[in-house]
Order: sequence, then C-alpha cells, then structure tokens
Amino acid sequence: METATTAGMLFQEDKRIMREQTSIVDLLRSLSDLSVERAYDPYRTFEWPESLPDNCLWMSRDLLSIDGTHYMDELSEEELCRLSRWELVNFFSFNVHGIRELMQQVLACIHNTGYEITSEYFHHFLDEENKHMWFFAEFCKRYGGKIYFTQKVQFPTFAEEDIQSFLAFAKILISEQISDFYNVRMMNDDTLPPLVRKINRVHHEDESRHLAMGRRVVASMREELAKKYQPEMLQKIGDYLRRYTEFFVQSFYNPGTYRDAGFSEPYEIRRVLLQHPSRKTFHARALGKTSRFFESQGLFAGEISNVCN
Ligand SMILES: [Fe+2]
Ligand SMILES: [Fe+2]
Repeated sequence: METATTAGMLFQEDKRIMREQTSIVDLLRSLSDLSVERAYDPYRTFEWPESLPDNCLWMSRDLLSIDGTHYMDELSEEELCRLSRWELVNFFSFNVHGIRELMQQVLACIHNTGYEITSEYFHHFLDEENKHMWFFAEFCKRYGGKIYFTQKVQFPTFAEEDIQSFLAFAKILISEQISDFYNVRMMNDDTLPPLVRKINRVHHEDESRHLAMGRRVVASMREELAKKYQPEMLQKIGDYLRRYTEFFVQSFYNPGTYRDAGFSEPYEIRRVLLQHPSRKTFHARALGKTSRFFESQGLFAGEISNVCN
C-alpha cells in the first residue's frame, strides 16, 4: 500500500518530469502518461465518516475570510469552528460549479480543428475534473446538507472566436491557481480533520498537472493573439481577466456562509471585509502566482489586492 511518504516522493518526481519538458507536445504526452499512472478510483479513495468533529476547524485559521480583522478577536472558538465549517462548504461548493463550467468549455473544443495536440490530454483532464466535482459535491451534501448556490456574472464578452477560446482557458487557469493556494495550505494543516486534508491533497496532485498544461496553453494562445491584434486589444483582454479574478476572489465572501455561521448582518460583513486593509494583504498573497504569470504575459500590470467593485 502506498504511504504518505512514498506518495510525496512520487509527486516530487512528477513535478520534475513536468518541469523538464521543453515542448508543448512533450509536456502534454508526459501529462497524459502521468494521469494514467496516477489514476485512482474516487469512490474507493475516501472514507466518509458519519460526521466530522464540530469542535475543530475545517478550514485553516489563516484562510478564513475574517482573518486579520477584528471579527477574529470577537468570535469564540466555537463560533470560529462553525464559520470554518461553512467557509469550507462554500469553497468546495464554488469548486463544484466552477468545474461544471470549465468541463463545458473543454468539451466544447476537445476535438475541434486547432486542438489536435491537446485533445488526448483533455480526455484525462475531463476525467479528473469529473472526479473532483464528485468528491467536492459529496462532501458538501454529507457534511453541509447542501451545495451553495453561486452567483453567476456574465461580463460583456468579445465577438472574436479566438479571443473567446483564450479567455476560457485563461479563466480556468486563474480559478485553478487560486484554489490551489487554498489546497496546498489545507493539505498540510494538521489541525484539520484527516478527510479535509486528504481531499485537498488529492485535488492538488491532479491540479499540478492541469496547471502545468494551463500555463503552457495560455502562453501559446496569447502569443498567437499578440501576432494578430493591436496592443489595445490585449489591454482589453487583460482588463477582462482582472475583473474575472476579482470576481472569483469575491466568491470566498459568501453572505450565505455568514448567515449560516450565525452573523446577523451577512451582507454588511461581506462589505466590510472586502474593503479591509488586512484582506488586501491576504489577496495579494493568495493571488501572487496568478498575478505574476499574467504580468509575465503582459496582461496584468502589477499585483491584484483590491477585489471590490
Ligand atoms: Fe479540479
Ligand atoms: Fe483542474
């Protein structure tokens, strides 16, 4: 049986293999091979206890949306634990909705002209995302009794088909990169229930391959756009992606979560938190990799910390 140590060593080896691939074709082939080697049955991977302890945190203390604010000092330990339960269910809920959307986008192009080199890996991507959607939804239903509804905002989009495709992949990369920041923190946090740590770890291991693919595909699509469009168009695309990133981070501040955690003015709390200086510092940290990547692509100018409209 595979122990946590051997799993960790295998994972380091996977990361080395991904780093070493210089061409996109080689990378995609390696990713497909790794997906086959690391395949698992999600229905047998997790043990689902009848209930999880309610006297401990379910989401890491420093990931709570109130961290760094006066609310942290005002809440009792019991209230903090309750908030952490709903914040984790919220995080997993918007993963469920996000995965459903990204699967639709990948399905829409999987065997289209222009996607010949990516289609093989897309099959693995879809397979893995379907597993993720299942285990996130399962957790929410079992321990939260529901999957939170997520507000859907349609930003005015672009008429050009190639820009639409680019945006679809850039948005997948943004959502996966930010979620991965949370996964990595929680999979290493001994204060959380083992099941919560394991879900975050299993997700992170699959996502490391998706992120390697996403960065390469997005960079190569951006190169094509830069050949075809004026810098002003790239600026507009960058603005769009900035707005999407801000909107994505706002999902962590769900009034429904605050209501379920017992706060009497959930919308007011959300408003205060979104403008709080400590939260801006946290956003800059959580968005670090995302900001740096899109800055390197000439699409973001500087880091994002302010996520208020
Ligand atoms: Fe995923
Ligand atoms: Fe993914």
